[in-house]
Amino acid sequence: MKGGSVGGGIAPAKRRWRGLAIAVLFLVVLSMLVPLGFLLGVHNGFHTAGHLALQHPSPSGDRSRHIDNLVRKLGPTLPKDILRGYVNEAKNETSSRNATPKIQQQKGIPIPPQVVMQPVTNKNTSNVNGKARTKAGADESGGLCELKYGSYCIWREENREAMQDSMVKKLKDQLFVARAYFPSVAKMPTQNKLSGELKQNIQEFERVLSESTTDVDLPREIQKKSQRMEAVIAKAKSVTLDCHNVDKKLRQIFDLTEDEANFHMKQSAFLYQLAVQTMPKSLHCLSMRLTVEYFRDHSFDKELSEKYSDTTLQHYVIFSNNVIASSVAINSTVMHAKDSSIQVFHVLTDGQNYYAMKLWFLRNTFKDAVVQVLNIEDLNAGYYDKATLSHVTLPVEFRVSFHSNDNAPAIHNHVSIFSHSHYLLPKIFKNLEKVVVLDDDVVVQKDLSALWSLNMGGKVIGAVEICSVRMDQLRSYLGEHSFKKNSCSWMSGLNVIDLARWRDLHISKTYWKLVKKVSMKEGSALLASLLTFQDQIYTLDSRWVVSGLGHDYGLDIEGIKKAAVLHYNGNMKPWLELGIPKYKAYWKKFLNHNDQYLSECNVNR
Ligand SMILES: *[C@@H]1O[C@H](CO)[C@@H](O)[C@H](O)[C@H]1NC(C)=O
Ligand SMILES: *[C@@H]1O[C@H](CO)[C@@H](O)[C@H](O)[C@H]1NC(C)=O
Ligand SMILES: *[C@@H]1O[C@H](CO)[C@@H](O)[C@H](O)[C@H]1NC(C)=O
Repeated sequence: MKGGSVGGGIAPAKRRWRGLAIAVLFLVVLSMLVPLGFLLGVHNGFHTAGHLALQHPSPSGDRSRHIDNLVRKLGPTLPKDILRGYVNEAKNETSSRNATPKIQQQKGIPIPPQVVMQPVTNKNTSNVNGKARTKAGADESGGLCELKYGSYCIWREENREAMQDSMVKKLKDQLFVARAYFPSVAKMPTQNKLSGELKQNIQEFERVLSESTTDVDLPREIQKKSQRMEAVIAKAKSVTLDCHNVDKKLRQIFDLTEDEANFHMKQSAFLYQLAVQTMPKSLHCLSMRLTVEYFRDHSFDKELSEKYSDTTLQHYVIFSNNVIASSVAINSTVMHAKDSSIQVFHVLTDGQNYYAMKLWFLRNTFKDAVVQVLNIEDLNAGYYDKATLSHVTLPVEFRVSFHSNDNAPAIHNHVSIFSHSHYLLPKIFKNLEKVVVLDDDVVVQKDLSALWSLNMGGKVIGAVEICSVRMDQLRSYLGEHSFKKNSCSWMSGLNVIDLARWRDLHISKTYWKLVKKVSMKEGSALLASLLTFQDQIYTLDSRWVVSGLGHDYGLDIEGIKKAAVLHYNGNMKPWLELGIPKYKAYWKKFLNHNDQYLSECNVNR
């Protein structure tokens, strides 16, 4: 038989490796012949072959691994059905079929077919398990994130689904770290080998990452590469003492990769950190630069404009501590106004941003409109009982979550609503009868003058309702206070306010009372505002405002284009790196990109 003659050829050669290789090859051929053997009923003939293989020294662990590897390489060429048969039979020690077990005993090596099968079965089960595990994790921790606006916990929850390509991200992280350690290691004469390894791994990672941006594209053996990298990094960590250097390098890399970070965008917690930490930095820079400039150059101070309190004009109020946000809100309003000369803007800001704001609006002109900047901290003295509140705050958004029924997942929404400071409006603008309040995260796309001729039928404020959030769904927030169950909630963003009516009805007084009552609870402003205005809302046509551009990826683009006002309520503000890319352009076009300060501070490159 063929098998016999091959075996005879090996014995005299006595070269182990060669013998082994041939033996293995032989075994493979053999394993293909086995089923054939069964079919033809000639399996007795295989005994000889088994004996020949046994003549070689007993296999050490090393060698059997070597063989495993060889078999693994050859494995895939074998028909799967045959392999499956082997696995089952290998498990069954009591199998009545005698041929295969015998061969295995005689060979004295681990059962190769099982090794071949493993990757296939493992992959499937581990995938399933993996999915099940992450699902369970989300459910378990779901209860832990309490509603807190801007909570990282909630953000992570929401974006967990989208956390794909974790391997790519892991590789990137490893690459960062490896690059950080490399210079320090390379400087050590005693660590030539390590630095070589490090370099090689870095290059390899760079190559892989330049070719793959998703996990699917990654080469199959990447897990191993990653492990190797991990080991090398661990070694590097153990030999480098100079933390300062590494730290410096890490910072550099962090800066370099900022651009690259678009890649992570929504998916990555890494970017969330990046955006939170770096973007406000450039806004901070802007604010600082403007403040310094303001005090350097006093020549800007203009006379008080008579327009500020002219009741025949259209007065817009914006609460903001963000220079570019309020600038965009104003610029976009002015740009679409039929007549900008009758527009007056009042920007209410805090002491920290007051001078920056002032300088900004002195430097920039917005057609024929005038802009007044007010420091709310100067104004509020004496306006309310100081004991009630420690300080007046700028508006905040509230994130509400509720369950529409017991089994459905929680619905989240970002409800922006009046803050304490809004209740100072009737006093700040003593002689005005009507104002339009804009949030600083809006962009105006149409002429708003129709708002000024609106007949609100005696209601105090005009607002867009959000019926996806109803009062009774906010039951847990509202407590035992009486409210109309099915009335919709409303949003700030674009509000028309009848200040005369407000004063008549003592709205502010009602509010402060309610705040006192509920001040123990989180979101007291939300509660008190909703309750205060329960019967005082004039519902604006929903075409006025499209909201959710700061959290909802699924908004209708046509609707956005047609809306009079876009509201970026949510965490993903358009001025943040984190902002939703497809909505950013509507906001960005109202910035002056040639502005010296903006480019110096890297705002919206
Ligand atoms: C393995 O053995 C069990 C009984 O122990 C038997 O039911 C089963 O059919 C066997 N499987 C194979 C593939 O031989
Ligand atoms: C792996 O799972 C997929 C679907 O989950 C299935 O279609 C496929 O047949 C499975 N493969 C094996 C080898 O079990
Ligand atoms: C206002 O927006 C326009 C674009 O519509 C832009 O050209 C201009 O520079 C902006 N002005 C300011 C002061 O930002």
